[in-house]
Amino acid sequence: MGNLQSRIKQAVAEAAVEQIRSGMVLGLGSGSTAALMIQALGEKLREGQLEKITAVPTSFQSQVLASKLAIPLVDLNQVEAIDLAIDGADEVDPGFQLIKGGGACHVQEKLVASAARRFVVVVDASKLVNRLNLGFLLPVEVLPGAWTLVHRRLRSMGAECELRIAERKAGPVVTDQGNLVLDARFPGGIGDGAELERQLNSIPGVVENGLFIHLVDQVLVGEAGEQGIQVRTLTCPGGPSFTSSCR
Ligand code: 5RP
Repeated sequence: MGNLQSRIKQAVAEAAVEQIRSGMVLGLGSGSTAALMIQALGEKLREGQLEKITAVPTSFQSQVLASKLAIPLVDLNQVEAIDLAIDGADEVDPGFQLIKGGGACHVQEKLVASAARRFVVVVDASKLVNRLNLGFLLPVEVLPGAWTLVHRRLRSMGAECELRIAERKAGPVVTDQGNLVLDARFPGGIGDGAELERQLNSIPGVVENGLFIHLVDQVLVGEAGEQGIQVRTLTCPGGPSFTSSCR
């Protein structure tokens, strides 16, 4: 694997796979880091280092990749619980609040994370921020017939927001559920994610937003150090400024 960023993602993905045990029901996240994790899992299964795994994918992307690697898949409705879900993130704050949805997969990702006994997040150090939403916009998935209504409501809450437009396709990004995504910036960023999550999900037409609150058990952070690429483990509460968004 070529550049430094990719090698960091590979290291953190492999570190997460070390936590998988034979017989587990897994949640497979989405995005480039999660894809490397799925790839590493597929290899371990092929080599016989792991067996009797079943997995719930969180997107079309992870479903197709896992099928290609012959990872046995099940629907969320077919499992009672998920032992371990592993997924990437777009921003992680010191209290383990996350923004996800860079790949517009946050609806299924949140379902799987909330059904998991243990949720491990895999990121490189660029994803660690002091305050959410100063850099990355917050994705809000909306029903197509309600996007202008929700857009107005978000603006009335003080947010700037835009409809996510597709690349290499005319028009908007359409999610795996057939919905649209509004990307929002709240003035001053997001401090109390729990309150904002509640407010957003009470707007009619909002399907789900990309805030992940009280879901995370552990964050694995890949970074380049003096001794090469290292993976740091942040475990809840994780540090002096950590407040409360651990599970
Ligand atoms: C997709 C996600 C991804 O996990 C998030 O965008 C991080 O992706 P990457 O590992 O490619 O940086 O939330 O909806």
